[in-house]
Amino acid sequence: MLWTEKYSPKNFDEVLGNVKIKDEILNWTEDWLLGKTSQCILLIGPPGTGKTTMAHLAANEFSEYIELNASDKRSYDILKNTIGESSLSKSLYGDGLKLIILDEVDGIHGNEDRGGTRAINQIVKDGKHPIIMMANDPYSKRLQSLKPKCNTLIMRKVHTNSIVSLLKKICVKEGVEFEEHVIRNLAKRSNGDLRTAINDLEVIARGQERITSEDLELLSSKDDIVNIFDTVRTVLKSKDPKRVRAAMRVDSEPSFILEIITENIPKEYEKVNEIQSAYEKISQADLYLGRAFNTRIYTYWKYAYELMGLGVALSKAETYKKFSRLTNSSIFPKLSKSRGNRNLEDKVAEKMGHKLHASKKVVKEQFPYMKIMFQNDETAHELATYFDLADDEVKLFRSRKIKVKKSKKKPTKSNKSATSISTPKLSGDPKVETSKKVDVEAKVSSKKKSRSKKVKNEDKAVKKSSKDTENENDSEKTSKDSQMSLFNFKK
Ligand SMILES: Nc1ncnc2c1ncn2[C@@H]1O[C@H](COP(=O)(O)OP(=O)(O)OP(=O)(O)O)[C@@H](O)[C@H]1O
Ligand SMILES: [Mg+2]
Repeated sequence: MLWTEKYSPKNFDEVLGNVKIKDEILNWTEDWLLGKTSQCILLIGPPGTGKTTMAHLAANEFSEYIELNASDKRSYDILKNTIGESSLSKSLYGDGLKLIILDEVDGIHGNEDRGGTRAINQIVKDGKHPIIMMANDPYSKRLQSLKPKCNTLIMRKVHTNSIVSLLKKICVKEGVEFEEHVIRNLAKRSNGDLRTAINDLEVIARGQERITSEDLELLSSKDDIVNIFDTVRTVLKSKDPKRVRAAMRVDSEPSFILEIITENIPKEYEKVNEIQSAYEKISQADLYLGRAFNTRIYTYWKYAYELMGLGVALSKAETYKKFSRLTNSSIFPKLSKSRGNRNLEDKVAEKMGHKLHASKKVVKEQFPYMKIMFQNDETAHELATYFDLADDEVKLFRSRKIKVKKSKKKPTKSNKSATSISTPKLSGDPKVETSKKVDVEAKVSSKKKSRSKKVKNEDKAVKKSSKDTENENDSEKTSKDSQMSLFNFKK
């Protein structure tokens, strides 16, 4: 267990500094339980000052709590779906209040996810359940609309003297002798951030009998690590656990660090068994990262860090005495090159999915068949019209423009200027087009009817679940039926 967890405050009395804010949170908790308030709290303050810690302590007072991270985009869906519902329906147990802890509301995605801000604002407005939101940057634009609606509490850095006393307490409990000035130095350099102070102490004191000023040098070398390449170089060059762990504390996304280490392993390591062992650690680290993102249990991150850092570092028998030129990951340029195409695929899949009542994923699985169907001019035209695809969207399935036979009928006003396949009235006679569309829809719905007859015989529970539009299997089935009807509708 990390020392920051081991020595994390177990109650509000143990939380250092920010006395007034502690009281405010305690009073707020009581008020909610007594039904005296429906306000939410916005805690803004520097890192490592106890925001998350206090939110967790407050959570003990309520019957349930849910913790989400605003910089993880998936949280918004959860907010909209889970919390959206739960904020209407109260829990069966206890006071029925579910505390919502939302971290990093000044999240890293900037203005990208307006939907997220909207979802948060909506839940704040509902006021059915207590919410504690946390942020670091008081000037963040994303907070401007939230601040007036919340009880906004600005936290301060923790005083050096308080940090000194906590670090001393930890040393005593861990049986580590210390020199007074070393502890004071650690406290000062943490700049009011208790997480940094405790972590730094752990780096130099864990497993030691005493700590001296020499140990502080190790930390200075940690501060010299200015970029991710220094981290990767240390991981590949060193076998010293302390140095590697310190180097891994670079301020960068874990998945990005993983990518750069992955890319550079064979540039430094020469023996096959070392490379194999290092990549095994990388794949395990990747599993933990995936787990952390999927479950939002971010404590998995630390296993990922250990595996990709120390795991890779200790995969070598000896350190190499050579200079290796490290390179950036090759995956990111590749991904950014294909981004345009991926966006287009998403757009088209969404349009088609809407018509086919299928998820984007299922529709994308049909793309290879679409490519074949789009080779025929007439079918291509009908499909493009049915799905309302623009010229550039059709390019996803065929490179040539769709040639449309001119209608022999007298051109009407509406089709005189029509040249694009995205115009629904292209075939000349809007009535013909509409009847085709109706025909297609009738076929799709008759398929659906026959399917629902089958479903009738099935178990009721299954029937219920088939209503769920999110259900992949169901959408797949629908999609396949619709797909079949697409094959048939050409007259
Ligand atoms: N006020 C405090 N009193 C005692 N320990 C603290 C305090 N603040 C932080 N710590 C220690 O630091 C660790 C991290 O603190 P916490 O996660 O609460 O910080 P935070 O303010 O949420 O930081 P961030 O803004 O980075 O999320 C805690 O687990 C605890 O060990
Ligand atoms: Mg926090």
